[in-house]
Amino acid sequence: MAVEPRRAESGFEIAPVYGPEASAGRDPAERLGRPGEYPYTRGVHPTMYTGRPWTMRQYAGFGTAAESNARYRQLIAGGGTGLSVAFDLPTQMGYDSDAPVAAGEVGKVGVAVDSVEDMAVLFDGIPLGGVSTSMTINAPAALLLLLYQLVGEAQGVAPAALTGTVQNDVLKEYIARGTYIFPPKPSLRLVADVFKYCRAEIPRWNTISISGYHMAEAGADPAQEIAFTLANAVAYVRTALAAGMAVDDFAPRLSFFFVARTTLLEEVAKFRAARRIWARIMREEFGARDPRSQKLRFHTQTAGVQLTAQQPEVNLARVTVQALAAVFGGTQSLHTNSFDEAIALPTEKAARLALRTQQVLAHETDVTATVDPFAGSYAVESMTDAVEEAALALMARVEERGGAVAAIQQGFQKAEIERTAYRIQQETDAGTRTVVGVNRYRLDAEEPYRPLRVDPAIERLQAERLARLRAERSRAAVTRGLDALRRTAAGPENVLPPMKEALAARATVGEVCDALREVWGTYAPVDRF
Ligand code: 3HC
Repeated sequence: MAVEPRRAESGFEIAPVYGPEASAGRDPAERLGRPGEYPYTRGVHPTMYTGRPWTMRQYAGFGTAAESNARYRQLIAGGGTGLSVAFDLPTQMGYDSDAPVAAGEVGKVGVAVDSVEDMAVLFDGIPLGGVSTSMTINAPAALLLLLYQLVGEAQGVAPAALTGTVQNDVLKEYIARGTYIFPPKPSLRLVADVFKYCRAEIPRWNTISISGYHMAEAGADPAQEIAFTLANAVAYVRTALAAGMAVDDFAPRLSFFFVARTTLLEEVAKFRAARRIWARIMREEFGARDPRSQKLRFHTQTAGVQLTAQQPEVNLARVTVQALAAVFGGTQSLHTNSFDEAIALPTEKAARLALRTQQVLAHETDVTATVDPFAGSYAVESMTDAVEEAALALMARVEERGGAVAAIQQGFQKAEIERTAYRIQQETDAGTRTVVGVNRYRLDAEEPYRPLRVDPAIERLQAERLARLRAERSRAAVTRGLDALRRTAAGPENVLPPMKEALAARATVGEVCDALREVWGTYAPVDRF
């Protein structure tokens, strides 16, 4: 069906795949399809969980690499089927633990990784050829991927045998969450360098996890969540094509990450609509022929922002409903939040309960016995159409502004999300939106709770490790490596090979990012509400 492309005010050509009319009128059978077949509304595999259950992948990490390594071993021993690394903010922002700006944050919201030595401790005793590891790292994603490869090589694991994902999605960091370093242009160059490097060196690695979760946590509603996520994904595809890659050479290894809210039916509809929109964009706008390029594979995390500090045990019920939404929605991988996360880092018991929740769903219920159980449901099919239409209309508005990057620089997505967040807060404050335990069914006196605390000595320990590393390494080798990285960053060649050399010589995360800051500069946000 050839439809003439429209032109935006800016002259930007809007592909016919966007806009609310893009889906209406298409054959209902084509819109629904069959599991494992285009447009994948019903799931990306013909058998889905009857063939293989989703990956139980609990996001974890705090304190030193040794402390986090112990938690990963517990999760694997407890039945977790994939790892998911949380890094502390200094690591996520490309600073060393002994940098003045890192004070107070070392090891706090995730594990501190400054060098290849910390990475080796983090995965000590965990064979990287036998586990898939997700790393929630964005601006310095290339560095942590290379550190993971270096540790794999030290274990004797070939890069081609490594499986996992780096989040590597800086565009959503400009919109929500904020762990960006460089301006959009060099950030997108680095993303494309990772795509090219992985295609050549680590072919089973998922090169990006294009995320709606953080925009949802910032207030985005379901249509905004998938619209702004898929618009970012379109920007990454356009970047890789402009860097000379063929779409089917990188698109099969794109992956996604969404939230699961307590509004179960709408969330199931959201996931089904997202798969259908993405399949159509990849086939009709980008001409992808490989079915793997058209499949939207995603990880889900239950909605942290819907957890309450009041009566925290009530969160066990919320997380169970949210996990069901993800499973009915066909997620490939799932993190269930711990009931105490609204208070502090999860205790070991709370983390175990979160994993057990998934295991009950997978092994004691019958939700894995049928593929896409809501197919044909009047409620969910009409909600799927409604979310799809709203998301396509929003994507057209992003296109009219020149695409995701231009819209970000105009503050468009951020302002749209903030308006929704404000409305939700007003409804909660007015009591028209019930939050059990908070604005209804409250307790006069909350029961006492003893959260997990990170040992403040972590900063001194990490600083001592860095001092030892800098004293023992070859200063000449590090200088050579960083100089080569700066030269490459100033040119068109892929920065990952010189970056790997520098990291192997024990250049630190902070030193590598500082070298790139010198060449590329840093991002200054636009704030417009
Ligand atoms: N039939 C046939 N094959 C099947 C199948 C079925 N029913 N089910 C699975 N498979 C195959 C898959 O095709 C895959 O094969 P491949 O290795 O050849 O590709 C293999 O089995 C493994 O299945 P998946 O790839 O679907 O499962 P994974 O768990 O390995 O990957 C993913 C899932 C979504 C693709 C991947 O990108 C992933 O793991 N993402 C996780 C991201 C994550 O954990 N993020 C955490 C963010 S936390 C955060 O941001 C911070 C905080 O603030 C929220």
